[in-house]
Amino acid sequence: MIVPFEDLALLNTPYLPVLKEELHLVVAHQNLILGDAVNQLEEKLAQSTQCAHAIGLSSGTTALTLILKALQVRDTRKEVVVPALTCFPVVAAILDAGLTPIFVDVEPDRWLLDPEAVKLACKPDTLALVAVHLYGNVCDLQSLSAWCRSKGIHLIEDCAQAQGAEYMGKPAGSFGIASSFSFYPTKILGALGDAGAVVTNDDSLAEEVKKLRTYGSTERGPYHYAGINARMDTLQAAFLLAKWSNLESVMQHKRLLSEVYRKHLPIVCKRPKLIFNAQDTPHLFPVLVPNRDKVRALLEKAGIGTMMHYPRIPPLEPLFSGKHHSADFPIATAIAQSVLSLPFSAIHSEEQILYVCNQMQEVLDRVG
Ligand SMILES: Cc1ncc(COP(=O)(O)O)c(C=O)c1O
Repeated sequence: MIVPFEDLALLNTPYLPVLKEELHLVVAHQNLILGDAVNQLEEKLAQSTQCAHAIGLSSGTTALTLILKALQVRDTRKEVVVPALTCFPVVAAILDAGLTPIFVDVEPDRWLLDPEAVKLACKPDTLALVAVHLYGNVCDLQSLSAWCRSKGIHLIEDCAQAQGAEYMGKPAGSFGIASSFSFYPTKILGALGDAGAVVTNDDSLAEEVKKLRTYGSTERGPYHYAGINARMDTLQAAFLLAKWSNLESVMQHKRLLSEVYRKHLPIVCKRPKLIFNAQDTPHLFPVLVPNRDKVRALLEKAGIGTMMHYPRIPPLEPLFSGKHHSADFPIATAIAQSVLSLPFSAIHSEEQILYVCNQMQEVLDRVG
């Protein structure tokens, strides 16, 4: 049996008929960038996150960058605390905004920001904390937001992997001063290219982000500072709206697949635990496996595609030229060495997932 990690052609083909209709509408209306569909998508995202504003952007990375740039309009602090276990775009956004990332280790059970490590990392120059909600799971938002409030630090949620997740009955994305979303093709809601968004309840931050996404002004000047071009295409928004109407059934299907994994995966494959009071959103299915690289190669031979989120941690990337050491982040380092994301998409059947579980058992028996 072949079980690809993902198949975007298979995933997107059912939406082609509606996409063709939208294509005609967009061509006829001529508003190719930030058109009606972008406004509709912004409204839907604002509603679903219980936020006053949503701003459609060109990617999740630009979303984070623009939040950080907008904060600097009013604040001169320069450091941003961020988990050591995350994808590189988060760090790229911090650097692009002219700020310094301060890395902290993650919790061993949940693989997300460790609130105690955050407390030690925050200094008078800390502008913001980026709570990266990985794999569909949310960080300990209660302690992180209480800490940020007590210290006057801006809490930003990176919801690129957490659209639809909840904490204490409230949507992920509604806890911080602002939150970033990604609609990269393999995300929970994936576009036919790059797209992203910011949500916020802060009126003036929303205004700044809107200015920053169009060179620095929403009115073609006057320009008090330079923004960038970070606008969302109308066609991407139209496609996302079409896909959104089917999102609930996709999520239900993925919850079924998740049950199959939970019942049939060998017990040695460790999963991140959910925080108390949190409701995850089914996005990735990462496990820790011994001899990860060998296991991955053997699964590949059995026709099973896997990925790693993430095999290297950003603080150890060459651009930090030896400034950090793996011993500074023992938990993140250990996870990066053993983490393996298993196939987990709307295109997979329960039979395929059962096959992955059985093959995993066989492979683990072989590698010992
Ligand atoms: C947690 C996280 N943050 C940020 C990003 C960046 O989003 P994008 O690829 O849309 O720029 C991604 C996706 O790659 C992500 O997974």
